[in-house]
Amino acid sequence: MRNSVKKAVFPVGGMGTRFLPATKALPKEMLPIVDKPLIQYAVEEAASAGIEEFIFVTGRGKTAIEDHFDQSSELVNLLRKRNKSNELNNIINSMPKPGAVAYTRQQEPLGLGHAIWCARNLIGEDTFAVLLADDIFMSKKSCLKQMIDQYDGTGGMVAVEEIEGEEISSYGVLDVDYKELKKIKIKGLVEKPIFKEAPSKYAVVGRYILTPKIFEYLDKQIKGTGDEIQLTDALSWTAKHEDYFGLKIEGERFDCGSKVGYLRANIAFAIDRDDLSNDILNYLRTFI
Ligand code: G1P
Repeated sequence: MRNSVKKAVFPVGGMGTRFLPATKALPKEMLPIVDKPLIQYAVEEAASAGIEEFIFVTGRGKTAIEDHFDQSSELVNLLRKRNKSNELNNIINSMPKPGAVAYTRQQEPLGLGHAIWCARNLIGEDTFAVLLADDIFMSKKSCLKQMIDQYDGTGGMVAVEEIEGEEISSYGVLDVDYKELKKIKIKGLVEKPIFKEAPSKYAVVGRYILTPKIFEYLDKQIKGTGDEIQLTDALSWTAKHEDYFGLKIEGERFDCGSKVGYLRANIAFAIDRDDLSNDILNYLRTFI
């Protein structure tokens, strides 16, 4: 039977210490790229790829995310009164349908694998996507849509990017079984290997299609790199039981978990906007 992907998990429990003091009271996922929070890029990407149920794994201090995806009557009334129809439409269109969003809490920061495990009862027997809001993409077709279009309805898939040099040690890395044109059959994966021991140049970048089989491993709560329960380890185990593929993503990825990546994304997305492009380019030219 072919599985369709209708549920997505957004792990948003992380502390965001790299962006302090901005993230002292503000969830890092609410940091804006131009004028839209990171998490909204991920949710819009999921919705446009056909996702119908949005599951957030949150933590303490993250209620701003719930408020963001909720109706704000005062704001709607104010925008209506002031005839701000563009802003009003933006606010209304960015809201998921009633009942389409669920929140669960990761009570302790035990790792990405643990965060996903916290959503197990909401996932049940369904194939599901995972989107890490830190990674955003600028591409003709969204990253998750590229994956769903290539997904044959069995096993799982991860988004991959070829990374040169020592930077590979910041990622989950594929141990390659064999390569097809775009897809790479996965033999196993290693979380944040040291450069010399990286099994390939193919790094996992923030988007996953997973099967509930993964919970069989995550149930065991085995700790890996950094003394955390790693999604990569669970994937590596699952890939030995089901077919898992890496898909090389077309487009540019921005690592918004790093300051440089975040600032780059702001510049690139601003230049991409008709209302901002000229002003930003003129300003940047003053530095050259
Ligand atoms: C996480 C995953 C890693 C993956 C990366 C993609 O790492 O653990 O396997 O390659 O996201 O962005 P983090 O960036 O949270 O350290």
